[in-house]
Amino acid sequence: MPTCGECIYAEDPSPTLIRCRLKGIFRYLDDPACMEFKPAEKRKDSSQDIDAGTSGGERAISDDLLIRKAKPEDVDVILQITAEAFKDYTVYHLLEKRHGVKFGGRSWSEWKKRELKNFCESSLDRVYVAELNGRVVGYMTYTLDRERRIGEVCNNAVSPRYQRRGIATSLLRRVLETFRQEGMKFAYVKTLEHDMPARRLYEKIGFKELCRSIHYSMRL
Ligand SMILES: CC(C)(COP(=O)(O)OP(=O)(O)OC[C@H]1O[C@@H](n2cnc3c(N)ncnc32)[C@H](O)[C@@H]1OP(=O)(O)O)[C@@H](O)C(=O)NCCC(=O)NCCS
Repeated sequence: MPTCGECIYAEDPSPTLIRCRLKGIFRYLDDPACMEFKPAEKRKDSSQDIDAGTSGGERAISDDLLIRKAKPEDVDVILQITAEAFKDYTVYHLLEKRHGVKFGGRSWSEWKKRELKNFCESSLDRVYVAELNGRVVGYMTYTLDRERRIGEVCNNAVSPRYQRRGIATSLLRRVLETFRQEGMKFAYVKTLEHDMPARRLYEKIGFKELCRSIHYSMRL
């Protein structure tokens, strides 16, 4: 990414994040897209941009983006983002489209929201949210398999209005950091083949494809 000369940057324990004021997106300096960024041109005003405080897993990525653990009062907005963002990227929606039925009288979004609600009820401590200017705009859930030492990135979504600004990347980096802190040695994530935004997000951060699976359905 050629620098626009308007970027700010700040020291984060690992790694360094920059935010482009013109494009409104967040990028890390170890991101190959940032190869053209010249360190000498960066402004060192990090104190205002990063607060590496750890209370409740909080991490201010910039003056307006905060990654923190979810609280009970965030659940409604998490469900709202789920309904807005997933659509074609859930098996429930594909089944509904193919068979023209609302399974069990519920739409795909109601099923998906129920899945997230159940997860939040049982494991809210495994949910991070991204708060932009005080508003929750994205989330990421995860599980830890302590026996195998594999951390799994589970559901994640960013409100469509706020996508392509590096928010999911920031959430994912935070979750991977948590995996390391929790002693995990591997990270795992699965997604649908046609979910290109998710695939690019994972591959950009270093995940490598392992295998593909196939979903079938038929009417009885
Ligand atoms: C996947 C998702 C969470 C990404 O959120 P995001 O905040 O927009 O992601 P980022 O801005 O951090 O983007 C990271 C990279 O993903 C890729 N990407 C994101 N959105 C994309 C899109 N619409 N088209 C193509 N690539 C996209 C890009 O490579 C991007 O990096 P770049 O902007 O530097 O090129 C979001 O698209 C979403 O909510 N999707 C619906 C829910 C979903 O499918 N979740 C994944 C479940 S496995």
